[in-house]
Amino acid sequence: TAADLDRAESLIRSIPDFPQPGVTFRDIMPLLADARALRDCVRAMIAPFEGTFDVVAGVEARGFLLAGAAAMLADVGLIPLRKAGKLPKPAAAESYDLEYGTATIEATEEVRPGLRVLLMDDVLATGGTLAAADRLVRALGGEVVGTTALMELTALGGRAHVPEAHVLFRV
Ligand code: PRP
Ligand code: HPA
Repeated sequence: TAADLDRAESLIRSIPDFPQPGVTFRDIMPLLADARALRDCVRAMIAPFEGTFDVVAGVEARGFLLAGAAAMLADVGLIPLRKAGKLPKPAAAESYDLEYGTATIEATEEVRPGLRVLLMDDVLATGGTLAAADRLVRALGGEVVGTTALMELTALGGRAHVPEAHVLFRV
């Protein structure tokens, strides 16, 4: 319910001046640590896409936490999109600009042609990560059926890169 999501949102902690002065970091650890909030959020993140996806793909590292929980709830498989250099046999890679630097993510051949993939991450900030995840899945022939994030940091304008993203909270 809306009240349940309000309750969950209230558990996101704001940390001033992290990772640099002037930036307010939104820390989801208290939300993750709360059983009800974790369940309510993951349910709401996947609800619009129920029955439309074969796997959930989460972006390292915090995206893994939500994607793992979502895959179990939805009874589908899990595909980790990993930071470069972690996978012994990557099938594709995509680079992107991050709020605090640049990065590359990689996927394995488990992203097969025609596989229906729901992309998942904790935060939509500049949108670089989720846009790269979308390109990565498509490069391997996967079909991205949706993109879902817990929180959008609206001031960073990331929505321009992932216009269809479903988000629970906007900050
Ligand atoms: C954070 C967050 C998203 C991404 C969002 O991950 O978890 O994946 O940044 O930023 P963007 O929209 O500007 O691309 P980070 O790279 O800090 O890694 P972590 O999950 O390992 O902490
Ligand atoms: N909180 C959590 N993750 C993030 C943030 C933030 O403020 N900015 C970029 N990734």
